[in-house]
Amino acid sequence: MSLIIMKNIGKVFGHGDSKLQALSNININIEKGEMVAIMGPSGSGKSSLLNILGCMDNSTEGKYYLEGKDLSTLKSRKLAKVRNQMFGFIVQHFALLDDYDVYENIALPLEYAGVRKRFRNEIVLNLANELGIAQKLKRKPRELSGGQNQRVAIARALANNPEIILADEPTGALDKKTGEEVMGIFEELSRNGKTIVIVTHDENVAKKCKRIIKIEDGSVAMSKEE
Ligand SMILES: Nc1ncnc2c1ncn2[C@@H]1O[C@H](COP(=O)(O)OP(=O)(O)OP(=O)(O)O)[C@@H](O)[C@H]1O
Ligand SMILES: [Mg+2]
Repeated sequence: MSLIIMKNIGKVFGHGDSKLQALSNININIEKGEMVAIMGPSGSGKSSLLNILGCMDNSTEGKYYLEGKDLSTLKSRKLAKVRNQMFGFIVQHFALLDDYDVYENIALPLEYAGVRKRFRNEIVLNLANELGIAQKLKRKPRELSGGQNQRVAIARALANNPEIILADEPTGALDKKTGEEVMGIFEELSRNGKTIVIVTHDENVAKKCKRIIKIEDGSVAMSKEE
């Protein structure tokens, strides 16, 4: 069975005159360990889809099964629990906390999850080493380059050892070389069995993915294997 199954997922924002059908009839299966790109024009519904995938938001139509479990009917508190256990998020502008140093930024999800300090420390140091930012743990995000901050954001997304990584334009703010390095990190994670879904406008990023899902006007226009 697929890790992720979406059946006729739809999303309506607002009511009455301001009602907007952002997604309709989305049917997607994603297997464990797959690396998938979501592409499509601005406003086509990519982020809305990613938010539903990552349990940041509920769909308004259809069914969403994660590991065979129906999530479409879960209330927000239960959904938040699934989100914290299963997903790591990476967004375009990093969403790092400016007043926290690199160490604290990476450790934050572990603190939320109630992981003891000694274990937190071990996890943060391991991740920082793997991602090549171990020298920067005491620095603030403003003292780092864009690529370094993206690594911090990736480390933070990985801290809880999530099954699935969702990235919205993870290379959007990076130059070509740094973007390729970040993609290299994703490829490595995918080889190690992590499932990765990347929203991107960048053809080169999409080419690295096994499958490309094109969204147009809130619907899947095309899904092709590379
Ligand atoms: N919280 C919201 N309330 C109302 N409408 C929304 C909300 N979020 C998104 N929308 C609308 O849903 C549609 C899809 O938006 P979405 O952010 O998913 O597009 P996108 O494909 O991610 O675009 P971009 O490439 O510019 O990031 C847009 O018309 C947007 O205005
Ligand atoms: Mg978006």
